Amino acid sequence: MPKPLSFEGLHKTCRDTSKPYLHTKDVHRTEVPDEKVPWSASFPDYKPKDYTDPKSKGKDWADPDIDDSDFHPKWNSIDGKIDRKSHIGEYDIVDGRPQNPLGRTGLKGRGTLGKWGPNHAADPIVTRWKRDDNDKKVTSEASGKPILQFVAILRGDVKQWAIPGGMVDPGEAVSATLRREFSEEAANSIKKTPEQRKELEKSIETLFQHGTEVYKGYVDDPRNTDNSWMETVAVNFHDENDSTVGGLELEAGDDASDVHWKDIASEMELYASHVSMLKTVGELHNAHW
Ligand code: BGC
Repeated sequence: MPKPLSFEGLHKTCRDTSKPYLHTKDVHRTEVPDEKVPWSASFPDYKPKDYTDPKSKGKDWADPDIDDSDFHPKWNSIDGKIDRKSHIGEYDIVDGRPQNPLGRTGLKGRGTLGKWGPNHAADPIVTRWKRDDNDKKVTSEASGKPILQFVAILRGDVKQWAIPGGMVDPGEAVSATLRREFSEEAANSIKKTPEQRKELEKSIETLFQHGTEVYKGYVDDPRNTDNSWMETVAVNFHDENDSTVGGLELEAGDDASDVHWKDIASEMELYASHVSMLKTVGELHNAHW
């Protein structure tokens, strides 16, 4: 089995200064040169904007303002139902705020994320082999290896293809998030009749019994700030013989606006760090990349 990848190098997506911060017109990140990303590098002129999406304030999924006198978060711990632990170790609290463990991003505050510190997501990578009309595996001419396909959704927010992942709800087990997000986004379970939903749940239940974790850690997500960041657990569920969801009718739902089985190949362009997660999945099955 290939080594699960870890986030290496510098974050790039969450330092992008070419466009304003998500859902804003005039919130710009401060430019952070590569060598100034680590907090250990001296950067006395670093005075990034402090931005927390006003629309998130008071929402049940969002933390209060950091200096709210009634807000007493237990950093680096399970805080009631909220998991404030990072997958990558203890993070520092500087001037009362959690500090992005991967360094500077050019923006302070909570941005559009819900939690100060780590925000946890889960990504189900559902795969099958690409087959021809005679059910034979299709092989790539370039690599001579069979082509793997995964269930991809078109994210409604950023209009980019992605793994149908989502946020772990407070108190929810990651295994439940993986199943729920896949059912909601790729099989539109919310809109199914109770009978259809039962059938669907049976297929998903069977497939999701055996998963292989391919990534656990920090994600270079466009929403990240100096004080709030995304982390995920990505798990591969492989349907070797099309016996569970391999033959399932996909239907986009919830936050997804389209869904299909996408060939896994190095030239794919996907959301956040999803390409590197799929590379690990390709290696795991010795598939074309
Ligand atoms: C997405 C996941 C993604 C994570 C980190 C979540 O909102 O649903 O697919 O891996 O953010 O970028």
